[in-house]
Amino acid sequence: MKKRIVIGVSGASGIIYAIDLIKRLKADSTIETHGIISDWAKQNLKLESEVSLKELEGMLDYHYSNRDLGAAVASGSFLTDGMVIVPASMKTVAGISMGFGDSLISRAADVSLKEQRKLILVPRETPLNAIHLENLTKLARLGVQIIPPIPAFYSQPKTIEDIVAHQSMKLMDALGIENHVSGRWKDND
Ligand SMILES: Cc1cc2nc3c(=O)[nH]c(=O)nc-3n(C[C@H](O)[C@H](O)[C@H](O)COP(=O)(O)O)c2cc1C
Repeated sequence: MKKRIVIGVSGASGIIYAIDLIKRLKADSTIETHGIISDWAKQNLKLESEVSLKELEGMLDYHYSNRDLGAAVASGSFLTDGMVIVPASMKTVAGISMGFGDSLISRAADVSLKEQRKLILVPRETPLNAIHLENLTKLARLGVQIIPPIPAFYSQPKTIEDIVAHQSMKLMDALGIENHVSGRWKDND
């Protein structure tokens, strides 16, 4: 059986991270993706990338409207193997931290928490205020993995794509998906 991964894409800057991860998961025949793209993520897709919404949705096995609270991933009885929100806006982070499931992304994240399944956030904002930090800390204490898009330079990235690939490696590692996406520390020793 394929590994079912839910991917929430919210309206923070950094849609390139979502595109890269989705492309890589599509190339892995052991993975089944279920994507939710928020309205503001759709705006950022236009602003920050040359990939169309149709193309992005076409890379997903299943995709849902963020308003469709009756979608499969809104229920804990629909079994999934992990959820990642990339990028995660501070608004979506706040909704999850308060248990306010008014969108499919925040509801699916709430389901991940109540079912004690793997939930990974890629929060993107700077500077971070105390509300953002408190919300993230609360979620981290509940076992949510917080993997901000902070580049590492030990792999000597030369391009933006190298930096993004390193983030995708961290996310796939956290999802338990074998990958050789980017250089690892001591790889070349
Ligand atoms: C161009 C643009 C960039 C944005 N970047 C961020 C960001 O990096 N982080 C963030 O938390 N919100 C950012 N926002 C604001 C969110 O899009 C906004 O809070 C929105 O309500 C998020 O909704 P969503 O989480 O349902 O996608 C940005 C908005 C725009 C238009």
